[in-house]
Amino acid sequence: MDRVEMLFTAKEVEEQVDRLAEEILEAYNNQVPTVIAVLKGSFMFTADLLRRLPGIYAVDFIRAASYGDGTETSCHVSISLWPTVKVAGQKVLLVDDIADSGLTLKCLVERLKKEGANQVDVCVLLDKPSRRKVEFIPRFVGFTIPNLFVVGYGIDYAEKYRNLPYIGVLKED
Ligand code: IMP
Ligand code: MG
Repeated sequence: MDRVEMLFTAKEVEEQVDRLAEEILEAYNNQVPTVIAVLKGSFMFTADLLRRLPGIYAVDFIRAASYGDGTETSCHVSISLWPTVKVAGQKVLLVDDIADSGLTLKCLVERLKKEGANQVDVCVLLDKPSRRKVEFIPRFVGFTIPNLFVVGYGIDYAEKYRNLPYIGVLKED
């Protein structure tokens, strides 16, 4: 059996989500742009974050996975769900669970801009800057963490642990 060691309690996560919501509202002068959340790992974070972001704005989802070794300069990301919401001419807030190598998010930002988005900002709950393979800096970050494999609060290992209300580090026995 794998063990999960507590990294951030549900309360600590909640406090960061509160802080992020304030930061986002201030950055956009309370006018939240179109939100696109990256499935599946961001589902819990997005649900909690958006409940703290009042206003009338579109919310949609995208599903993507990066592949390839990440040393190439072109985008290698397979998109299995593309949002139906209008992207052209819009300002977009892209919400994801983790920025790791940065490949997925960097590619998604590029794709959305290619579709005509005039601004794409990224918000992640967790950032692992030491794992970057490409230059990528998310605008809004909940927690910056070292190179750890985390689960919980929507984040999985083999589709499990998403239901945990806290964020933990998976330890193999
Ligand atoms: P990348 O930044 O393109 O390498 O991909 C980031 C994605 O990899 C995240 O959205 C997660 O789905 C997944 N990922 C990265 N680190 C972890 C982790 O520690 N636990 C679970 N999934 C992770
Ligand atoms: Mg993901």
